[in-house]
Parts: sequence; C-alpha cells; structure tokens
Amino acid sequence: MSEPGKTKFQIDLRRHLREQEVNDNLTHLICEIAEASKYIINSIRTGDLGVAGTSNLYGEEQLALDVLADRILRKRLDHSRVVANMMSEEMDEIIPVSPDCEGKYSVAFDPLDGSSLVDVNLAVGTIVSIFEGCDLLQQGRNQVAALYVLYGPRTTLVYSVGKGVHEFGMNNLMEFTLLQENICIQPKGNLYSPGGQRNKYTPGTEAFVNHLEERGVKLRYSGGFVPDINQVLLKGKGIFFYPHLKDLPNGKLRLLFELNPMAFLVEQAGGAASTGRQRILDLQPNEIHGRAPVFIGCKEDVALAEEFIAKFESETPAEEKKTSKKKFAG
Ligand code: AHG
Ligand code: MN
Ligand code: MN
Repeated sequence: MSEPGKTKFQIDLRRHLREQEVNDNLTHLICEIAEASKYIINSIRTGDLGVAGTSNLYGEEQLALDVLADRILRKRLDHSRVVANMMSEEMDEIIPVSPDCEGKYSVAFDPLDGSSLVDVNLAVGTIVSIFEGCDLLQQGRNQVAALYVLYGPRTTLVYSVGKGVHEFGMNNLMEFTLLQENICIQPKGNLYSPGGQRNKYTPGTEAFVNHLEERGVKLRYSGGFVPDINQVLLKGKGIFFYPHLKDLPNGKLRLLFELNPMAFLVEQAGGAASTGRQRILDLQPNEIHGRAPVFIGCKEDVALAEEFIAKFESETPAEEKKTSKKKFAG
C-alpha cells in the first residue's frame, strides 16, 4: 500500500485515507476528528479533573473533562461543513448541524470514554461512529467508518472505512503516522476482559467465565472500554464483555457511540461482536441512548459465550427484544 520511496511509517492519516480511496468529505471529517483529539489530549494533561456540576441524561455526574472534550469535538464537527447531524454521550438529543444530507455524514461519539479513570492516570479514549446522510438511528452494519483515539502511554488512532483496520501513532509534531495496516484477530484467544460485577452475572455468563478460567485464559481488565478493546484488537487474541447483569438486562455500554463503532472495527479485523444472542451490528436502535450487553473479540470465543447463554438461559430478556425489533418512531 505504501508509495514507492516512502516507508509506510511516513504515511500520515490523510494520505492513507486517500490511498484507501476515501472521498474528500469523509477524509476531511476523519482528519478533523483527529485534529480535535490534539486539544482533548491537552485538556486531559492540563485540564481540571473536577466535576462540572452538571449531569448527563443518565444522571451520571459529568466531569469537567467530559464536557470539555464534548465541546471540542462538537465545535470541530459544527464547522466541518460535512456533518448533517451529531449526537454524543454528553448530549440529551441529536443536534442538527446542516439541513441537507447530500454528501454529508452523521456522527455519534463518546468524547471521553472512561473519563473517571483520568484522575488515577489510566488510559482513556474517544470513540466515533460515522453514517452517511442524516439518519443516526440505523443498524450499526450501515456505518461507513468508525474510529477511536486512545490516550495512553502513547496516543494512537485506529480506524476503518470498511477496508480493514489500521493503526496510527501520534509523533512529536502531533501528526498521526501509520504504525500497522490490516490488523487481524485470531479465531480463539488467551485473554478475557470481564466488565460488571461478577456476583451479578447470569448463569450463562458465569458458566462461560468458568470455562475460560479452566482453559487458563488470562484476565486483563482496565475499566476503560477503549484500552480494553485496543488490547484485544492489537494482541489479536481475546474477548471483552460487559454482559447483561441480574439488575441490568441490557448491560451498561451504549449502542450508538460505544458498541456500534467498536463492533464495526472488530468485525473488520475478523472478530465478532454479539449481545450474547445476536450480532451487535444488526440491532435496530429505538432510542439514542439505548444500551446492550456485549461480548466482543475472537470469533470462536464470542460463539462460545452465545452457546453458554443459550444453554443456561433460554429466554431473551424482554428489554433486549424491544431494542432489537421496534423501529424508532421519531
Ligand atoms: P464512560 O466513561 O464514557 O461513561 O464509559 C465508561 C465505561 C467503559 O469505559 C467501561 O468499559 C465501563 O464503563 C466500565 O464500567 P465499570 O466501571 O462498571 O466496570
Ligand atoms: Mn463511554
Ligand atoms: Mn464518556
């Protein structure tokens, strides 16, 4: 893929998108998001770690960083001239940016996932899901692109436009240059990343975890969705799950701006992403802040989780049926 005379490590994000034959508007959008990440990094490093004194739609106390990161991205998208609608974890509703959809994109994003980990200096990230046109309440399989930026010991960006998954590193000039192309996940893994409290696991998930432990699979969990998924992707051998819990039938993670983009990336790398009963990317969202349980990573391990759940838990929770079937009335 690299141009003659250019080592692939000098390939920057814009050039790589051009080589992937991505159209100008989508290239501009992805590069604007990458540009915004520089300001988010700065706010993480120097910003106020306190609470913003406000809460989001979930009633979760917003950290100043959540609000700041949201504002940085919202401003970039607002002025990009290629966005029709946008929504984020920090917004109560979809924000219209431009009335016409022609050649434009709609963006769902989590401006700072894992923000509560910043004050203990653990890795956090930005997650972005991109659809063509105006409709954000489509099945995730219709995404045209997905990406995340991981603010860890190194700042990296991982994206896909449906032609494989590619990783970029931020250099000392704060440019993203190619680190590796066409990342692949093995069929079976040797690590698992279990979210949620173990004492609230349902019988199927419990049996699945016992199987993994008997198999000697190592537990790796940071509490940050972006670094935990990045580990599964880049090691190519693992499964992350935040399952349905006894008191949370739909788990914790949000479909539009956490699960859909990560499911798109992991499937593009040859992995799988399921609620434990059905493919995440087939779910029909019926509201912007809907949640779903998730098992995501090595194909065989995700299939095994589905088998344990089918075997030990016959009935699909009513909640999940609603999320997957009813078309959004709005
Ligand atoms: P956010 O900070 O955007 O609200 O997301 C936090 C999520 C995700 O990063 C992680 O997988 C999960 O919360 C961890 O939840 P627990 O603290 O319940 O393990
Ligand atoms: Mn999040
Ligand atoms: Mn967040």
